[in-house]
Amino acid sequence: MRYVIGIDIGTSGTKTVLFDEKGTVIASATVEYPMYQPKNGYAEQEPTDWYNASISTVKTVIEKSGVSNEDIVGVGLSGQMHGLVMLDENNSVIRRSIIWCDQRTAAEVEEMNEKLGREKLIEITANPALTGWTAAKILWVKNNEPENYAKCRHILLPKDYIRFMLTGEYATEVSDASGMQLLDVPNRCWSKEVCDALGIDMSMLAKVYESCEVTGRITAEAAALTGLKEGTIVVGGAGDNAAAAVGAGVVSDGKAFTTIGTSGVVFAHTSKVSIDPKGRVHTCCAAVPNTWHIMGVTQGAGLSLKWFRDNFCQAEKDTAKGMGIDEYILMNKEAEEVPIGSNLLIYLPYLMGERTPHLDPDARGMFFGLSAMHTKRDMLRAVMEGVSYSLRDCVEICREMGINVSDMMACGGGGKSPLWRQMLADLYACPVKTAVSQEGPALGVAILAMVGAGIYGSVPEACEKIVAVDKIQQPVEENIPVYEKYFRLYDEIYPAVKDKCAKLAQL
Ligand code: XUL
Repeated sequence: MRYVIGIDIGTSGTKTVLFDEKGTVIASATVEYPMYQPKNGYAEQEPTDWYNASISTVKTVIEKSGVSNEDIVGVGLSGQMHGLVMLDENNSVIRRSIIWCDQRTAAEVEEMNEKLGREKLIEITANPALTGWTAAKILWVKNNEPENYAKCRHILLPKDYIRFMLTGEYATEVSDASGMQLLDVPNRCWSKEVCDALGIDMSMLAKVYESCEVTGRITAEAAALTGLKEGTIVVGGAGDNAAAAVGAGVVSDGKAFTTIGTSGVVFAHTSKVSIDPKGRVHTCCAAVPNTWHIMGVTQGAGLSLKWFRDNFCQAEKDTAKGMGIDEYILMNKEAEEVPIGSNLLIYLPYLMGERTPHLDPDARGMFFGLSAMHTKRDMLRAVMEGVSYSLRDCVEICREMGINVSDMMACGGGGKSPLWRQMLADLYACPVKTAVSQEGPALGVAILAMVGAGIYGSVPEACEKIVAVDKIQQPVEENIPVYEKYFRLYDEIYPAVKDKCAKLAQL
């Protein structure tokens, strides 16, 4: 039997999973790390935390599994997208990584629009200038920390920094590179026109591969630290969403998934480049060669529930600990006891600004309709419903663009909640399914590694053999019109306070 490893460098932690060639989990390990928020709207992480977590989790899964490293034939990397890692001439990290949910770059987004023109940017990069994407972060460092920018020789994405540390190669792949806003997305290569206009030296960018191509091999040093065999191949891998798509078998037209991780994503596969002229959803290269995906993003999905848990649910945490269960199970039970609409309470999940559909870094969260009769339970359910309304916004746009979203999978931590999946099924008015394997991005990049290692001939062929559907939740007919009323009102709230959010940001 042959084995592969998938490493997923997430926002809350790094998860590494060792799979056999049938996709069965043999061993898994996760290490968490902090996110730093030095100012409202800022978000940073330490690349060294990702590195330490990657090394230790790979070592743990190999030791735990007892599998010989001779039989581990490939490694795939997945990770949070858009984060900026800058290396100096000695390959040392210059500053903390400014990560995907950071919103400090409003001025740089304007600068990009001025230098290139909004239409040109959309034509080449398939997306409007976005505060969370890498190009704006590079310009921010250039404008605000010129001493750091002057030292910069290499620009890498989070998972590609780990690739560099494991293989010594400066490499990336099309799905994650799409989120840098320097890629010519229809043609799957760096855009000289964009780099020149923004004054970004292309020699700092990594070589671009397709996701299942071999990008390098494990060095002697990385082998000694992890227990992997020197020379083991590392494939391109994918940004976390494109990787999750492969792990959920979303690799052909008509298939889509919703993930509720820290962010929430509605992702639809498409075999042709399809761009929202209003820029409300992203268009990126998919991990299947010569295909693309569109993706709507809710900045604060699982993040909203985690925020609520950490600030208001100590009692649930203590009880769950005593019972030896996950605190989210108890929180779900409490939310289930509250009727649809949370007793007339609506939550807007814009804790980290919002992308789809508002594209507004100044948007902020709120509970609308708070009354003295409301309890923590109502607020808890309102948080889950608010995230679901925001994901429905993403589905609306896909449908508006003519992309079929009737075959929906649910993934991510939040996708494990039957209550949350039912909210999605009722709001999307279509069945919501889960995959048997819950490993999402780690499985996705393990599948890419299997293709790179020659175990399977193509990504769709591998998915066909490995990914199986588990539970299917049907929409409940009588719930649909009830949710619809709340969703319509939810959609009216942000436009009514948009200018107030901007004022708040200026105070
Ligand atoms: C996608 C996005 C997030 C991150 C973090 O555009 O910003 O999904 O990849 O998971």
